Amino acid sequence: MPILTLVPSGIKTEVAPGTNLLAAILAAGEKLVSKCGGEAKCGACHVYVNEGRKSLSKATKPEHAKLDEIVGVSSKSRLACQAQMGEEDVTVEILSFV
Ligand code: FES
Repeated sequence: MPILTLVPSGIKTEVAPGTNLLAAILAAGEKLVSKCGGEAKCGACHVYVNEGRKSLSKATKPEHAKLDEIVGVSSKSRLACQAQMGEEDVTVEILSFV
């Protein structure tokens, strides 16, 4: 199974392909706020995907729309509640400025 690595904590965990990234991050013991129940409405689950971006599910229109409203968005940005793990290892940065 692919490995999800979280930075800066350094937590590593195996995650089954198709698993929601937010759920995987929380299951790994990391704190990440979800204020909208994972509906791409709050932006609180904004993370940077430093490696393995292409293996994640593609961003949907609602995710793009929400990201457009968020401060600090970069080409590495995803909403963790909207992204699903693929077949490759992924490194996700939990953002301290959110
Ligand atoms: S949990 Fe609200 S946008 Fe992801």
